[in-house]
Amino acid sequence: MTDPTAIYRYRESLAAVDALTVAIAHLDLFTAIAAAPGDLAAICQRFSIHPRPAHTLCTLLIANDLLRRSDDGVLYVTDTAREFLVAGSPLDARPYYASIAEKPGVNDFLTVLRTDRPANWPGEEGEADWHAAMRTEAFAESFTAAMDCRGRVLGPGLAQALAGCPPHRLLDVGGGSGVYSIAVAAAFPATRATVLEAAPVDAIAQRTVAAAGLGGRINIVTANMFADAWPEDHDTHLFSNVLHDWNPTDCRRLLATSAAALPDGGRLLIHDMLLDDDMSGPLWAAEYSVLLTTVTQGRLYSAAEIGDWLADLGMRIVDRAPTALGRSLLTAVRR
Ligand SMILES: C[S@@+](CC[C@H](N)C(=O)[O-])C[C@H]1O[C@@H](n2cnc3c(N)ncnc32)[C@H](O)[C@@H]1O
Repeated sequence: MTDPTAIYRYRESLAAVDALTVAIAHLDLFTAIAAAPGDLAAICQRFSIHPRPAHTLCTLLIANDLLRRSDDGVLYVTDTAREFLVAGSPLDARPYYASIAEKPGVNDFLTVLRTDRPANWPGEEGEADWHAAMRTEAFAESFTAAMDCRGRVLGPGLAQALAGCPPHRLLDVGGGSGVYSIAVAAAFPATRATVLEAAPVDAIAQRTVAAAGLGGRINIVTANMFADAWPEDHDTHLFSNVLHDWNPTDCRRLLATSAAALPDGGRLLIHDMLLDDDMSGPLWAAEYSVLLTTVTQGRLYSAAEIGDWLADLGMRIVDRAPTALGRSLLTAVRR
C-alpha cells in the first residue's frame, strides 16, 4: 500500500481553518489574551463560549504555536501570535482572515462555540446533527462508506497490533460496516466477531460481511449500545472511532457497560486518533478534533483522559500501538 496520508489528512483537517478564522476574525482572541491572559474557564466566560469547543480551539492554537499554556493552565499568546495576530502590530495579519470571516463553515464553528451543539450536517430531512442524520438510509450509506474505506487502510494495522494475542470472540461496538471485524477475522482464522450496530447501519454491516465471505464467522447484532443489553461471552471489546463521537459522560457510560460485560481476563480495545496528554497536539489530531467537535457531541481525547475513565472502572491501559494515519490502539485490562 502506498501512503494515503495527504488524502485523509486534508479531509480530516477541513474545519481547522474555520476555527482559526473564528479566533482571529470573530473573537479577536489573540488581542484579548495578549491584554489579559486567562485559563480556559476565564476565556469561556469572557467570550461567552462553551468549554468543549473552546478546549478544541485552544488545543488547535497551541498545536500551531499561537498560544501556550502554563503549568497552572493560564493561556498566553506566543511570540508569533503577538507579531501577527494582535492589534497594533506592524505585521498584523488579521485582515487576511477578516476577508473569509463570513464563510459558511466559519459561521458553523462560531455557532458550535456559542451553543455547544453540533452544526448543520446534511441528512434526508435536514437533520441538525450527525447522530440524527445517521439514522437515515441515504446518509448512513454515504457516511458508512466513508468509514469503510478508511477502515480498509487502518484495519490491517489494527489486526497486526493484535497478532501477539488474537481475540477469540471480538465485540465490535458501533462497528460500522464491520470493516475492522473483517480485518481481524481475515488475519486470525480462529477469531469470531460480533458487530453491534444500530439500524440502518446494521444492514450495511450484514451486506459488507457477506461480501467479504465472512458471514459464518462474523454476526451482526442490532442494538442501541446505550440502552440495550450487550452480547455476552466476548473476550475482547473494540471501540473503533466511537468514543470521539460522545461527551465524557457518555464515554464513561459506554466503557462502564463494556467493563461490566467483559469476562475475567477480557480486554478492552480503543482505536482512535489521540491527543497528547498535555493537550499540545499533535497538529493533525488537533485539526481533526475541530471537525469532530463541529459535527458530533465529542472531540478527540488523550490516552490520559481515557485512562482516568478506565481507572474509575478498575481498569488500566497496558499497551499503545500505532495502526496507521496517526491512529493508535489502546489495550486495557482489569487491574
Ligand atoms: C464514527 S462511526 C465508527 C464506525 C467504525 N467503528 C469505524 O471505526 O469506522 C460510529 C458508529 O457508531 C454507531 N452508533 C452510533 N450510535 C449508536 C448506538 N446508540 N448504538 C449502536 N451503534 C451506534 C454509528 O451507527 C456508527 O457506525
